[in-house]
Amino acid sequence: MEKKILTHFRRCAEKVEETLKVERVVQKKDEYMGTGADGTPSKGIDIAAEKVVIDHLTERTDLSLLSEEKGLVEQSGDGFVVIDPVDGTRNALLDIPFYCISLAYTPSTLKEVKVGYVRNLVTGTEYHALKGKGSFKDGILLSPAKNKEEHLFSIYLGEKSHEKSSGFASKPRRVRSLGSAALEICKVAEGVFDLYYHRTPRERRGLRITDLAAATLILREAGGEVYDKDLNRLEMGIDAAHRRDIIAIYDQGLKEVLP
Ligand code: IPD
Ligand code: CA
Repeated sequence: MEKKILTHFRRCAEKVEETLKVERVVQKKDEYMGTGADGTPSKGIDIAAEKVVIDHLTERTDLSLLSEEKGLVEQSGDGFVVIDPVDGTRNALLDIPFYCISLAYTPSTLKEVKVGYVRNLVTGTEYHALKGKGSFKDGILLSPAKNKEEHLFSIYLGEKSHEKSSGFASKPRRVRSLGSAALEICKVAEGVFDLYYHRTPRERRGLRITDLAAATLILREAGGEVYDKDLNRLEMGIDAAHRRDIIAIYDQGLKEVLP
């Protein structure tokens, strides 16, 4: 069953990639299309991408869907597909080639996710994981090295970030802040970033399950972990609006350097 779901995810992502090549060039940067189920403004490309995914999955599966813009689409089957049709919408609209689709299957909650799939919608690079079977980038098993001497951190920065974040950014050798949490967590799983730090005041700009369900399984299956702000193993329910700050780490020795 999981392999079949993964095949559906891959096909959805290919269709969205094609759709966005057309849609993105006709979008106006600030086009507003209403408020999504997560409580944030939806852009035209979010709506176009989401329609492709929902049409594909409702025609071919009986799983319920939790999608960032539309919220819960109930069907008769057991379990949920957790969907972010475009993670990194602002990058897409600014023509910064770092945005993706994120698709995950779970029978119940984040900890139970069994299939995770993330695809960069510009390059076509894909990450996937099946629970208990490891994580893969373009079909190649991820197993990065630990104990690196020089570190590259990905840190959510700017006026909405937590006051600890900018100070923390001066610690590693290098820092990035790239605007697609799902891809940034996958880059931790790949060993490119040593950690991803997303802290915000009172978690008000935290991530939603739609942003991170797939990437969390991909990092966990690669041997890393995603924590909440108190360094407990992150758990979230099926709720499009709930937000959590997170810290994603590959090499657990790095917990010691956190602020
Ligand atoms: C956003 C991205 C971004 C993160 C924001 C999210 P969206 O997702 O993941 O990296 O900092 O908090 O909202 O809105 O492009 O799906
Ligand atoms: Ca989105």
